[in-house]
Amino acid sequence: MDKRYKAYKGNIIYSQDKDTLISKENSYIMVFNGMVKGICKQLPEDFPEENIVDWGKRLIIPGFCDMHVHAPQFLQRGIGMDRELLDWLNTYTYPNEAKFADKDHAKKIYSAFVDELLRNGTLHVNCFPSIHYGASEILFQILEQRGLFAFTGKLNMDQNSPSYYIEDTEQSIRDTETFILQHQNTKNVKTSIVPRFSITCSEKLLAGLGELVKKYEVPVHSHMCEAVNEMKVCKELFPNYKNGADIFYKNNLLGETPTIMAHCIFMDDDVLERMDNSNCMAVHCPDATANINAGGIMPVKKLLDMGIHLAIGSDIGSGANFSIARGIASTIQHSKIRNMFDSEWEAVNLAEAFYMATRSGGRFFNQVGAFEEGYHFNALVIDDSNMYHEMELTPIERLERFCYAGDDRNICMRYILGTEVKIV
Ligand code: GUN
Ligand code: FE
Repeated sequence: MDKRYKAYKGNIIYSQDKDTLISKENSYIMVFNGMVKGICKQLPEDFPEENIVDWGKRLIIPGFCDMHVHAPQFLQRGIGMDRELLDWLNTYTYPNEAKFADKDHAKKIYSAFVDELLRNGTLHVNCFPSIHYGASEILFQILEQRGLFAFTGKLNMDQNSPSYYIEDTEQSIRDTETFILQHQNTKNVKTSIVPRFSITCSEKLLAGLGELVKKYEVPVHSHMCEAVNEMKVCKELFPNYKNGADIFYKNNLLGETPTIMAHCIFMDDDVLERMDNSNCMAVHCPDATANINAGGIMPVKKLLDMGIHLAIGSDIGSGANFSIARGIASTIQHSKIRNMFDSEWEAVNLAEAFYMATRSGGRFFNQVGAFEEGYHFNALVIDDSNMYHEMELTPIERLERFCYAGDDRNICMRYILGTEVKIV
C-alpha cells in the first residue's frame, strides 16, 4: 500500500458542531498525504502494519486555534496586570513593542514565541505583529518555516501613540500594500490587515486600509469593544459613528472580507447587527479580560446561541498563558461568573468551549479543527497517564481534566498535515 496512507489509533475526540463532541474509542483516523479520510473502528485486513501509528489509550484531538495573540508581547506577559488597558498600553506595551525595530531582537523573540505556541498545542494562529515592516516579515517567515497555519501582517497605528511608536499615515498604507504584494504565494501563512484599534488609527488610515481590503480581498484583524475606558475614548474620537463596530464597518474593515475582532465584550443590539455576518468572528480572550480589568465579560452563550462565530485567544501579553486548553477552562469559568451577575445568560459547557477552540476558530483557515473527510490532519496526542488515579474515566472526562489540570507536558505529539512537529 502507498506509504502516504496512515492509520492513527487512539481515543479520538473532535467537535461535530457547537453542541456535539464526537468521541470514538479505540479507533483509527485514516489519513492520506496529511488529509483526513475518515474514522474507522476496524482496519481493512490487508492494511500494512508499518502504516499504523498506535497511540494506545492516549487521546487524539485537533490542534488548537489561538485566534488572537500578540507576538511582540511575548516578553511582557504577566507584567503590569494591575493596570487598566490604556494605562497598560502606554506604560508597558508601546515601549516593549518599539524594541522590534531591531531585527535581531525580532528574530530571537519570535522564534521563542512560535516554539511556545507549538509547545502548547497551538497549530493555527492569528498573530498581531508590531508596526515594523522588517520584524513583521521575520514573524511571517518563522511561522511559515515552522509550518503553522497562520495569519499575520504589519500593524497600523498613526495617532494617540507615543512619538517613538507611531507611523506616518501615507507610509503606513503604502507599507501595508507592499507587505501584501510581497507575501502572496505563501503556503500556510497568509497576510491580514491589522489596524491596532480605532483609538490609534485616524479616519484617513482606516479608510486607506479599507481600500486595500477591497482591492486585495485580505482579511482584517483588530480589537473592538474591549474595555469601558477604551469605548469612552472611542466615542469622543469618532462622534459620527454609532459604535466601535460601525467605525470598522463604514471603512470597509468589518465583514467585507473575513474579519476577526478580539474581545467584543460590550455587544449591544447595534453592534450585534453589524457583527451578525458570516464573515465576522469574535474572539474571547478570558485571561486578558480579567487581567486588564475590562469592566465586563463577553456574553459567550448569548453570542453562540445567536450563531455568531466565536473563537478563543490567549491574547498574550495582556493574557499571560499560552495554553488554549486552559483558555477552554477559563471560558467556562468566566461564563459562570457572568451568569452569577446576569442570570439570563447561561454558562457554556465543555462541548461549546472546545468547539470554539478548535472547529469554530478553524473556520478562518481552510478545513482545520476537526477529523472529518477533507480536513487537514493537524492533531495533538494527549498522554494523561501521569493523571491516572485508579479512576475509570471516559475520553471526554479525560479531555476535560486535561483542559483544567493538564499542561504542555501532557502533549506528547503534534502533527501538522500528518508530519511530526519538532519543538526546541
Ligand atoms: N487594544 C489595543 N491594543 C491592545 C493590546 O495590545 N492588547 C489588548 N488586550 N487590547 C488592545
Ligand atoms: Fe489583544
